[in-house]
Amino acid sequence: MKIIMLGAPGAGKGTQAKMIAEKYEIPHISTGDIFRANIKNGTDLGREAKKYMDQGLLVPDELTVKILLDRVAQADCENGYVLDGFPRTIPQAEVLDEALTKLGEKIDYAINVDVPDDHIVTRMSGRRACLKCGATYHMEHIPPKKEGICDNCGSELVLRDDDKPETVQNRLKVYHEQTQPLIDFYTEKGVLKTVDGTLEMQDVFAAITAILG
Ligand code: AP5
Ligand code: MG
Repeated sequence: MKIIMLGAPGAGKGTQAKMIAEKYEIPHISTGDIFRANIKNGTDLGREAKKYMDQGLLVPDELTVKILLDRVAQADCENGYVLDGFPRTIPQAEVLDEALTKLGEKIDYAINVDVPDDHIVTRMSGRRACLKCGATYHMEHIPPKKEGICDNCGSELVLRDDDKPETVQNRLKVYHEQTQPLIDFYTEKGVLKTVDGTLEMQDVFAAITAILG
């Protein structure tokens, strides 16, 4: 099963993608997590990506597409995957579509996690992320067992550099301009499903599993 998560920054794409990956035993692939791991490890890719990410801008398609196509070509993706944060522009969606068509494959579901903008800003300021394993928490809604420490891997949790309110506003603007058109793109392909992302995390997941079966 090949699944794409769509939705504004902070809509809960990563939170839901992790749960989907676990239940359906497919890899969770987040381009944002790949970039953040590269920033943490001080790679050239990380340095380049950080320039854009810190301003809430998208990393150029040339850098992003190659990373994603290499990743989905790996052996663990044979039975499908859940993509979180990719595609984010129409050109990215077209490249993915072409690559899959060549293999005789297609995206099965594009899940749109719908959350209005005013919800987003409050959510982001409470988010804490683990840069090692990609787990995400929320200080009020989804706290870790031990404050500031990742339940999964024991690493320190941080407030992402791009979760400052002014950067969040910019990411929302970029989302509406460049990513929202993907909703029409996947609607036309007949694979778009929208779920209400303002519900409790488990209720959002129940709505998603009702779709995926
Ligand atoms: P990326 O890492 O993909 O960030 P994003 O899309 O901005 O989304 P987030 O990760 O911020 O939010 P999310 O929807 O995953 O929400 P989460 O589950 O954490 O990308 C970062 C940057 O990398 C981009 O800005 C760009 O520069 C670059 N980039 C990445 N991919 C790219 C691409 N393809 N092309 C170009 N550039 C790219 O949830 C948010 C918070 O809410 C958490 O605290 C969570 O615990 C909480 N929460 C989740 N669900 C609920 C709920 N139901 N109720 C209450 N709280 C909840
Ligand atoms: Mg995320």
